[in-house]
Amino acid sequence: MQDSDIKRIKTAQSLYNKPVLAVYDWLLLGLHCRFVWGCPSHHMLELYNRHASANHLDVGVGTGYFLDHCKFPDTNPRLALMDLNNNCLEACKKRLARYEPAIYQRNVLDPIDINAPGFDSIGMMNLLHCLPGNMKSKGIVFSNLKVFLKPGGVVFGSTFLYGGVHRNPLATLTLHLTNRFGFMTNMEDDLEGLKATLAQHFAHSSVQAIGCVGLFVAS
Ligand SMILES: C[S@@+](CC[C@H](N)C(=O)[O-])C[C@H]1O[C@@H](n2cnc3c(N)ncnc32)[C@H](O)[C@@H]1O
Repeated sequence: MQDSDIKRIKTAQSLYNKPVLAVYDWLLLGLHCRFVWGCPSHHMLELYNRHASANHLDVGVGTGYFLDHCKFPDTNPRLALMDLNNNCLEACKKRLARYEPAIYQRNVLDPIDINAPGFDSIGMMNLLHCLPGNMKSKGIVFSNLKVFLKPGGVVFGSTFLYGGVHRNPLATLTLHLTNRFGFMTNMEDDLEGLKATLAQHFAHSSVQAIGCVGLFVAS
């Protein structure tokens, strides 16, 4: 990994401190998703309700809002949480204690070894736009993770895109500022690029754009 990528990962990670996590759900998933990104977070929750299995790995967990609110098909799912940031993992471990989740502190851009049975679903909500690189190079995340997907399993998630989507002026301003300061890297991410990367890594995939969010499912 290049030094500039490592620097951007560190900058993006610095955002997920305890004060930010305390307001994350209502500020970022509540206000921002609706008014900046043009995609109210219930669309993301619907993706969980449709695709999260009773044997689920979640990657880039944040505060665990969607995992806390979604309806798993089983009251006692096997749940694993993967993130680079220990603040996020600790917060989620507490919030989701009822599921006794397995915790993995890993960088999804590196080869991953977790020595555990495969999963029927992998969620990566709002992760790709945090990662350095372009949509093609971010495909490494799918290579690194799909080895943990059981046959017939599904990967789903969302990411904020710059190109090929409907951006309101507030979204355009926010994207320029967050990319300038290194909190996001997605000025080169567009809808066609997301579709192409998914098609490169999976036999079946679909993407729906709502506002400037690309919601995807692949298997
Ligand atoms: C924007 S938050 C999304 C949180 C949650 N999925 C949601 O939608 O509310 C991005 C999450 O990805 C994690 N993350 C960012 N870069 C990562 C990396 N390289 N490897 C693993 N996790 C990463 C962050 O620590 C954070 O928890």
